Amino acid sequence: MSDRESPHGQWSTSLVFVLAAAGSAVGLGNIWKFPYIAGEYGGGAFVLVYLFCIVMIGIPIMVAEITLGRRGRQSPVNSLRTLAQDEGRSQAWTIIGWMGLLTGFLILSFYSVVGGWSLAYVLYAALGAFSEADASDTAALFEALQESPWTLLAWHTLFMAIVFAIVARGVRRGLERALDFLMPLLFLLLIILVGYGLVSGNMAAAVSFMFRPDVSMLTGEAILVAMGHAFFTLSLGMGAIMVYGAYLPKRSSIGKTTLSIAGIDTLVAMLAGLAIFSIVFSLDISPAEGPGLLFVALPTAFGNMPGGTFFGFVFFALVSVAAVTSGISILEPVVAYAVEKSGWTRPVVAALVSLVIWTIGIGALLSFNLWEGFAPLGFLADVPRLWFLEPLTGLNIFDLLSWTTGQLLLPLGGILIALFAGWKLSQPSLREELPMSEDLFTAWLVAVRVVAPIAVLIVLLNGLGILRFS
Ligand code: PHE
Repeated sequence: MSDRESPHGQWSTSLVFVLAAAGSAVGLGNIWKFPYIAGEYGGGAFVLVYLFCIVMIGIPIMVAEITLGRRGRQSPVNSLRTLAQDEGRSQAWTIIGWMGLLTGFLILSFYSVVGGWSLAYVLYAALGAFSEADASDTAALFEALQESPWTLLAWHTLFMAIVFAIVARGVRRGLERALDFLMPLLFLLLIILVGYGLVSGNMAAAVSFMFRPDVSMLTGEAILVAMGHAFFTLSLGMGAIMVYGAYLPKRSSIGKTTLSIAGIDTLVAMLAGLAIFSIVFSLDISPAEGPGLLFVALPTAFGNMPGGTFFGFVFFALVSVAAVTSGISILEPVVAYAVEKSGWTRPVVAALVSLVIWTIGIGALLSFNLWEGFAPLGFLADVPRLWFLEPLTGLNIFDLLSWTTGQLLLPLGGILIALFAGWKLSQPSLREELPMSEDLFTAWLVAVRVVAPIAVLIVLLNGLGILRFS
């Protein structure tokens, strides 16, 4: 085994690693994004493609990412650099780490804005703001929040401050201590909510919506969104899972931990989806409500159900906890790199990095009010040779951040991670990290060498309209 040690410390057990990685994976992606995109793309067929991507692409790539992290034992940039050196490969592979850093900055800046909404809604729920509200009241409440840059800024600042405070304390004292407390809380809150959906919601309609496939809904774009979401929800492709892997104890099994993490993430997405749709369908609200599904449809439901103030509070607390545990994993690779590079203390580095992300986030939150119609890439619309960027030319900053990271940078990072691990690490190195049965190992190798890269590439090109299959 390679006996490198992480300069940032190590998780105390494999279980803590699973909790941490599951905390990273389970987030706004599961509770906010998954239900609303499943709603927009018609439910069943979308959900099936998404599940297929988790198993065929996500799980093998997660194994690859953790393997690279544990062997490199540093931030993604330096892990890649060290591994390329060890294996006599080109230093160009460090690009995976650099792309990951950029992606981290971009994701966290809009993620924090939505995390801020969920914090705001914890307060609204506690104040009884949904009580007896009808759909237009809750829509007005959400709009009022969106239209006030200062309020959005305050919540975005609070979210970044919480994430910063945890990451600044380091792996053991910060991340691990927070996760030990937050993850059990998250599961408890989710169980309460699903129980509520079962007792008082329309669970039958929810099940049929989520699992009855309607193949006519499967466009190239729907498949791209489903695949991009598989990366996003598993936190793959930017080094978040890689850096957590760098803190993984030597003896832990990468295969087993991966299955637990992917299993927990998928279970939470399914349960959250069922709970949310069972509430939505019990009230005749449209499932294709868009990003507001969580913040408009649900509060209406909470406002008109017995115990709704309490359950509303529980629900948004759940969303906030999930968002914070993901936020720290997006910040960690960047902070780890900056600590290694500068030699400054972690709190100082974390503060500087958070400040930059916070600033980009201002652009994201202004997309809902002052800069609503501002499309930064609009000027590309008239450049004929860049026609394939057309889908981006109409997007505001928020959508641009979300689109380029989710549909482009994460899948691209994922392919490169799969190719590097599969083709450039020697078999003995891989076998040292992955002492699984010969058959399983071969299956994994085929997946990361061939299946995942080709599948991701086809979906990317098709979805971007560069190659059309549908
Ligand atoms: N997986 C997180 C979610 O579903 C988001 C995330 C993306 C976290 C990329 C880390 C890295 O909300």
